[in-house]
Amino acid sequence: MHLSHRVHNLKPYPFARMAEKLADLKARGVDVIRMDIGSPDMPPAEHILAAAGKAVRDPGTHGYPAFGYGTRSLLAAVSAYYHARFNAALDPGREITALLGSKEGIFHLTQALLQEGDIALVPDPGYPVYRVAAEWAGAEVYPLPLRRENNFLPDLDSIPRDVLRRARILWINYPNNPTGAVAGREFYERALDLAHRNDILLCHDAAYCDVAYDGFRPPSLLELAGARDCAIEFTSVSKTYNMAGWRLGFISGNADAVSAVRKVKSNIDSGIFPGVTAAGEAALRGDQTWLAARNAVYAGRRNRILAGLAEIGILADSPKASLYIWAPVPQGFTSESFADSVLDQTGVCFAPGTFFGSEGEGYVRISVATPTGRVEDAIQKIKRWSAA
Ligand SMILES: Cc1ncc(COP(=O)(O)O)c(C=O)c1O
Repeated sequence: MHLSHRVHNLKPYPFARMAEKLADLKARGVDVIRMDIGSPDMPPAEHILAAAGKAVRDPGTHGYPAFGYGTRSLLAAVSAYYHARFNAALDPGREITALLGSKEGIFHLTQALLQEGDIALVPDPGYPVYRVAAEWAGAEVYPLPLRRENNFLPDLDSIPRDVLRRARILWINYPNNPTGAVAGREFYERALDLAHRNDILLCHDAAYCDVAYDGFRPPSLLELAGARDCAIEFTSVSKTYNMAGWRLGFISGNADAVSAVRKVKSNIDSGIFPGVTAAGEAALRGDQTWLAARNAVYAGRRNRILAGLAEIGILADSPKASLYIWAPVPQGFTSESFADSVLDQTGVCFAPGTFFGSEGEGYVRISVATPTGRVEDAIQKIKRWSAA
């Protein structure tokens, strides 16, 4: 088989490798507790399921979707959500497109914008798709380290001029995966200013904007005046409404970028299953109060995990948002050796920080999207872990 150089150079997705390793352990009878992935473990609210149920029983629901980039009514629902949640005004006709999950949109936006000779500015550690998508397009990646001493924000002033000249995309992602860090309007303003001055598309991945704790409400980049001149934002029903498997996300903001994504996607996919569209619309337009109760469950797990880690001497920052605790590994371990040691001794699976880039060394990512009873089991097991 002759594979293309692009596929040849593609590394296996780290979580796919992990899934295979865990399947082997399970086959050997190990009680594996997955705390490495951010897949919501709780179901969506009943009104969302009811809307989906009604749609799938409609005989007209099963053909090709008529609108590749989202029905008018779905895009209007996204616009209404942005208005209610962030007081941001978006034109659903030109400034929003629906996606088969934001992962797909991140990839295709990158293909629409980048080519050989271009640079993507990518956070490290960061969601792996930003890097993979840029490399697939033949572009270079300039990593922006996210370090604790800088509150896991990139140092935008440190980017060299010649890099900025060739940069076409700047990725930012808050609430952040994997560090759990959050950003305020002041940071967004600086990023927007940099993008404006250098003719770069600022891409904000806001996948976790509705998963927040202790009264914190993450802002949207699109709240800022002028953001739509040079920025887009990704949102998704995956984490916001516990619908990760339904595959529905959105890109909103700059009309030229949105139009380019529509052009790419209309040639590649055939749109969103109408049952998913109905569920997404119900989620966006319906009652939002259940999200606070859901977030309180995550926050309770977060507190229990932090206390359990402290008992084995690991002091991690308490995240204000996202699904993740970014925990430093004990002395004498690397990210991978610590994750392996915990998995081998206890069956509890953490994600090594290096899954997200070389700057993730020294950390593991622990997800609160694990059923509460299993979190308690994991804590008991972890307490018995020993460094020896
Ligand atoms: C930062 C970030 N962006 C995007 C995604 C993809 O989300 P979606 O389910 O919308 O494709 C994830 C999923 O884990 C993520 O962590």
